[in-house]
Amino acid sequence: MAAQNHIPPRSVWLETYGCQMNIADSQLVTAVLRRAGYAAAARPEDADVILLNTCAIREHAEERIIGRLGDLARLKQARPGMRLGLLGCMAQHNRAALIEKAPWLDLIAGPDSYRRLPEMLGAERFDPAIDVRLNRGETYGDLAPEYEAGVRAYVTAMRGCDKFCAFCVVPYVRGRERSVAPDDILREVRGLAAAGVREIVLLGQTVNAYRAGETGFAALLRNVAGVAGIERIRFTSPHPSDMTPELIETMASEPKVQPYLHLPVQSGSDRVLAAMERGYTAGEYLALVARLRAAIPELALSTDIIVGFHGEQDDDFRATVELMRTVGYDSAFTFKYSVREHTRAFRLGDSVGEEEKGRRLSEIIALQESISRERNRALIGREFPVLVEGPARRGGGILAGKTPQFKTAVFPGHPEIAPGATVRVRVESATAHSLSCALA
Ligand code: 5AD
Ligand code: SF4
Repeated sequence: MAAQNHIPPRSVWLETYGCQMNIADSQLVTAVLRRAGYAAAARPEDADVILLNTCAIREHAEERIIGRLGDLARLKQARPGMRLGLLGCMAQHNRAALIEKAPWLDLIAGPDSYRRLPEMLGAERFDPAIDVRLNRGETYGDLAPEYEAGVRAYVTAMRGCDKFCAFCVVPYVRGRERSVAPDDILREVRGLAAAGVREIVLLGQTVNAYRAGETGFAALLRNVAGVAGIERIRFTSPHPSDMTPELIETMASEPKVQPYLHLPVQSGSDRVLAAMERGYTAGEYLALVARLRAAIPELALSTDIIVGFHGEQDDDFRATVELMRTVGYDSAFTFKYSVREHTRAFRLGDSVGEEEKGRRLSEIIALQESISRERNRALIGREFPVLVEGPARRGGGILAGKTPQFKTAVFPGHPEIAPGATVRVRVESATAHSLSCALA
């Protein structure tokens, strides 16, 4: 017994790739392992266990992770007792190939297997473990993730996706849509508010498809808004098809729900949208944007766009450019189409060459840059409440925070302004990416 007390806790190094959902999942994994007696390692070189929480959304993401795995495999050679594991979407996506090509991996665990990690890692005599079963009931709703300190926290509201867009691997690697029970979410949010969090971002692959019994997404937003101490609520990412009138009304009338929406469009061409199986036409999307702006005049919009989907002709691409101009997004995340195994589009092919994809991507990046700059410059002279996050990256006593529209605002610090405070600022100058402000 006595000897056991001197065994230091096993240490774990966890790296996270990909989207906000993965960051939230890593906070869950950290909590699961912490409860099982693991401590965080200061460096990968010191860790007993190294885990990569991975992304499979595009080939590029997977290539980066494979490169990193190569480095870590060498580290493991030098330290044979170390265990190396792959978690998340890529573990789920490439399980067969990984077992064959990366035999030095000790553990492969998909997004629904995190509860079992201590068991998988903790066997007396260690056998390589693999668990990539998807579980349509798993929400981890009873487990409190280990949140990072800060004024904003990302809270998982739903997992998985049932939309099956033709290009997307998410439904295959994250499994069926399921919502976290409202009581679990509210307990989490109350705890965060008590710990000083002021802004909640509700997360889900198609977060506005949320439904738990009688509670739909609009009702969930109103419930979260009822939590004292929480001042701002956002959510990401909504799907255009699930933007119900009730949700728009709630965004318009509930003051804590902020006027910002990330509304992925993917393409401006009806032909491409149909091939992508997105479930709306460009006209329907634009009508939705018009309804949103009529209800929420100060709304900022961002989006995701894919160029070079199989079959995308020049006029399809021009339709995307046109839609970007018509909407005038505040910002956009833009991607070259990447063929993904298992998806419906996998068999279609990849008709647009790499060079042409690159050309189309550069064009819309430049276009968005100029639209963003123009929209931000139009705000010069306007005043906004900014939730203070902390020192700006540029240093020099400058503070940073977000406007209600989720734009980064920087402004001179003051001894009385601490993170978590909301200050009023006036925009003095603007770039495509941030607003330089004075205290108003
Ligand atoms: N190729 C390129 N981009 C993709 N996305 C999803 N799947 C692919 C793919 N196969 C983009 C979409 C989605 C964002 C998260 O990633 O734009 O909204
Ligand atoms: Fe992928 Fe479409 Fe689901 Fe978004 S809605 S995660 S793009 S399948």
